[in-house]
Amino acid sequence: MYQYHCLNPISEIGLSRFTENYQKTDSAENAEGVLVRSASMHEMELPEKLLAVARAGAGVNNIPLDKCAEKGIVVFNTPGANANGVKELVIAGMLLASRDVIGGIDWVKANADVETVGKDAEKAKKNFAGTEIYGKKLGIIGLGAIGVRVANAAVALGMEVYGYDPYLSVEAALKLTREVKHVKNVDDIYTDCDYITVHVPLMDATKGMINAEAIEKMKQGVIVLNFARDLLVNESDMIAALASGKVRKYVSDFANPTTAGKDGCIVIPHLGASTEESEDNCAMMAVDELMDYLENGNIRNSVNYPTCDMGVCSNVGRVAILHKNIANMITQFSAAFGEEGINISDMTNKSRGDYAYTMMDIAASADDKIIERLNSIDGVFRVRVVK
Ligand SMILES: NC(=O)c1ccc[n+]([C@@H]2O[C@H](COP(=O)([O-])OP(=O)(O)OC[C@H]3O[C@@H](n4cnc5c(N)ncnc54)[C@H](O)[C@@H]3O)[C@@H](O)[C@H]2O)c1
Repeated sequence: MYQYHCLNPISEIGLSRFTENYQKTDSAENAEGVLVRSASMHEMELPEKLLAVARAGAGVNNIPLDKCAEKGIVVFNTPGANANGVKELVIAGMLLASRDVIGGIDWVKANADVETVGKDAEKAKKNFAGTEIYGKKLGIIGLGAIGVRVANAAVALGMEVYGYDPYLSVEAALKLTREVKHVKNVDDIYTDCDYITVHVPLMDATKGMINAEAIEKMKQGVIVLNFARDLLVNESDMIAALASGKVRKYVSDFANPTTAGKDGCIVIPHLGASTEESEDNCAMMAVDELMDYLENGNIRNSVNYPTCDMGVCSNVGRVAILHKNIANMITQFSAAFGEEGINISDMTNKSRGDYAYTMMDIAASADDKIIERLNSIDGVFRVRVVK
């Protein structure tokens, strides 16, 4: 029986996936698995029993990743679990920018007490009219979990869709509708598209990528959408481009003093992932990752250890070793098993940065002697008898 503890309220739909082998505990002290959303774990003492932390969400800056790794605690997150929520808001953003829906709604509110509001609206509406998205060109920078969904939805709405992603994963490529044109040069997006939406992670290489130079290449009257991170766009350049009419609207999911309330900016208070379904999806994914790790030793979507999957163990025993990514470790592990007369039937070793993970399926149950021996090898953080 495994115990899990929730540091934040976690969606019941997610928790209901735990099988009868799991029990919720009120204290992290007794738990092999911890589920967390935004609670800070930086000051938390990491209990000896704790094997894994699953963050229901993408950002992990509330979790001390290296400290966890060095205690042999695998940290998981749930990338893409909120992608549909973001996609739907991007589509809404395109529509809000195409006609002045918000201005129109504000006008109705302001005239709510006027008896002739209906008749007056027929005159006023020309001020809020705009264009349709059908048949327009949409450029998507970053075809990951969100970008692919936006691309497919936009194709379904009759848009001509162009995607740019030099690191497109096979998984994403397989999900992408064939109608999406994959361009090799981001300038093709800048020069040709009526709408441009950014879905890349914020890194040194992408910070400020939408700046005056990029905007200069864009079509007159382009609509730019940013539901990724505000720092991807040089927003002072964007304000200047809105003022000159080069950019028609800038839709952002990130409120800040540069854009909030400014002409041409439609600023949303970071609602991309704020849906019940996103929370449920994150919780379900976090619970599934936790169970697969605790029961099989498999690592999927970890942020401090490598991905490693040996499926469900059908051998007598399985041992997992969390260790430093240094030379000569596998030789020492196999020597230890060999000298104890234990046959290794299958093995995987993966590394990620400073940390590595080795799983071994063995023809006997691992006893205390071999575990002690493996634990004594320099560079080993933790040895787990998975089965
Ligand atoms: N608004 C919100 O509430 C919200 C919610 C979730 C995620 N996000 C943001 O959206 C971003 C994208 O999320 P995701 O789940 O699709 O991530 P993802 O990791 O699935 O996809 C990112 C994609 O960007 C690509 N990429 C990286 N550098 C690039 C570059 N220079 N040019 C073009 N493509 C590049 C990668 O190859 C990858 O395919 C996240 O990094 C996050 O900042 C926002």
